Amino acid sequence: MMTRMNRQRALVCGAGGFIGSHIVKRLKAEGWWVRGVDQKLPLFSETEADEFVRGDLRSSDFCQKIVDRRFDEVYQLAADMGGAGYIFIGAHDADIMHNSATINLNMLDVCSKRNIPRVFYSSSACMYPAYNQEDPDNPLCVESSAYPAAPDSEYGWEKLFSERLYLAYNRNHGMLNSIARYHNIFGPEGVWEGGKEKAPAAICRKVAQATNGGEIEIWGDGNQTRSFLFIDECIEGTIRLTRSDFPGPVNIGSEEMVTINQLVSMVCDIAGKRLHKKHINGPTGVRGRNSDNRLIELSLGWKPSATLAAGLEQTYDWIEQQVRRKHAQATQNSESGLHTRKIVGERADMANLHILN
Ligand code: NAD
Ligand code: GDD
Repeated sequence: MMTRMNRQRALVCGAGGFIGSHIVKRLKAEGWWVRGVDQKLPLFSETEADEFVRGDLRSSDFCQKIVDRRFDEVYQLAADMGGAGYIFIGAHDADIMHNSATINLNMLDVCSKRNIPRVFYSSSACMYPAYNQEDPDNPLCVESSAYPAAPDSEYGWEKLFSERLYLAYNRNHGMLNSIARYHNIFGPEGVWEGGKEKAPAAICRKVAQATNGGEIEIWGDGNQTRSFLFIDECIEGTIRLTRSDFPGPVNIGSEEMVTINQLVSMVCDIAGKRLHKKHINGPTGVRGRNSDNRLIELSLGWKPSATLAAGLEQTYDWIEQQVRRKHAQATQNSESGLHTRKIVGERADMANLHILN
């Protein structure tokens, strides 16, 4: 039996985010002791971490405090990131590069000094060269195609820089860091509104909010292609990679490529709605992208198997619930607001005014 003393310990940076909070759940289900770190708590459910430390990983002092002991596994998922509406519009470029690179520089420095053997690092398919992703039917994202480097966003350049940093620590400091290049991960408890949401969540939200027979807005002509990987598959691939001797970088993604128009149709089918697709200007990123899973299959004997439709069904159900809950809350607030205003109107004294704030 595993005692408190000999339990495996993991550190998850970015544990308040989408993928990090799911990794915490998985490690806890396996019986690990987990310390989660983030500047915010998970948005949609209680953290399952044994300890959750809130703070800013851009501070090297803070990083030293949270890596105060030996951890058997460290997952570094904290980053300044979002979907196309966040990373491709240019307004966040300096923050994205500065914030994410600083976190990675700090964490590697501290982990190598504390003799942590391995850190898992979440890179992105956004590091692949734009020139190989211009044909929506034949994008090339095999691991060996990374150079000559030409990512289409500063987010992608930071990921490439940090990949190189983790590999340099492997060579110069005897670490065994492993690197995954994630391809658009989606699922329940991912951000679904506010500007950082990615296409699957944004489309589920728009479909859930639309009236049957109405229309939804789609950025671009909808013929751009992508593949989307369900969160459970992402976690499985991540854990397997971290526990293997293979450092990567390796794709963790799905090979089921669809156009964004097809993605919208699939979500409409799940929702049982017929909606007109209205194409509008918006940040679109590369024209085509698909995972290439030959290397992960060869190195780990594993590749994802869940269909996009199966993952979308779970995701749509969860987002529809979120939309409904938010709508109910807004209705309740406006009703109580009306009620409050009525009271204030009736007894227009200063004592009641703060209720409206
Ligand atoms: P997320 O935004 O939900 O999670 C990232 C977390 O990092 C957030 O909770 C955020 O608060 C935290 N964080 C950011 N800056 C911090 C700081 N200075 N100090 C402490 N915490 C900080 O993103 P995610 O989807 O869970 O992605 C996790 C990782 O995977 C990121 O590195 C991301 O770039 C990478 N990735 C994700 C996808 C995807 O489709 N979700 C695709 C490719 C790569
Ligand atoms: N987000 C979003 N919202 N995208 C939309 C929408 C919408 O309402 N309508 C159409 N799209 C289109 C985008 O224009 C883009 O062409 C495509 O859907 C995919 O958009 P995202 O899912 O937001 O981003 P991405 O696939 O270009 O990049 C994502 O995946 C990378 C890994 O593959 C981002 O999440 C990156 O951060 C991530 O690293």
